[in-house]
Amino acid sequence: MSEQNFPPKGIPRTLIEMRDVAMDSVLLADKPDMDLYFMNRDILKNETEFRLDETTIIAIKIGVEFNKTYGHEHKCAELYEIISGAGYFLMQRRDGEDIEEIFIVPARTGEKVYVPPKYGHLMINSTDESLVTRNIMFKKSVSDYKPFKEHHGAGYYAIDSGEAVEWVINKSWPKVTPIKMKTLAQLFKEFQIDKAKEPLSELILTNNKILNLFR
Ligand SMILES: [Fe+2]
Repeated sequence: MSEQNFPPKGIPRTLIEMRDVAMDSVLLADKPDMDLYFMNRDILKNETEFRLDETTIIAIKIGVEFNKTYGHEHKCAELYEIISGAGYFLMQRRDGEDIEEIFIVPARTGEKVYVPPKYGHLMINSTDESLVTRNIMFKKSVSDYKPFKEHHGAGYYAIDSGEAVEWVINKSWPKVTPIKMKTLAQLFKEFQIDKAKEPLSELILTNNKILNLFR
């Protein structure tokens, strides 16, 4: 990341705030105030029912675990766009404490990612540059962080095995299905969602047909 863009705008999420979802919490004693990612909410300050957020996940590891967002669930669907960098979206569907489905979707600059309603989700930066994303959210949508907090994160952790990203099961969940990889094309096809050509900053002001899917 160039110095001009650093530090990124927004509220930082620090190492100590990730203590409940990090694979190895012991490492937190080291630099508790270290910034891991930045959340810039409602960047357009538009008066529609939707807001545009921007998140910057810096390229860093917590021990062997790649940097990630905390993870949460909400009843509304969400649409993301990668502004720069590349990463993985992890999504999981649960029934109570059992994870019935869990998959990852790789995405890079310019691509959009759909998050279905009620799927728990987080983003992982396994690269050596910052991952910057934007997302459209229904302003009335409420995010629930509790399932991730209570189970020390998602069903899997992404760790650096030296050559590739390794997915390590999180045994804090009573049941976790094998993790699958989905392409963006598979994701949009499965949920019958139109990607739309315009960037989210335009879409949020003009494309009511798509926006209605995210209420
Ligand atoms: Fe979300």
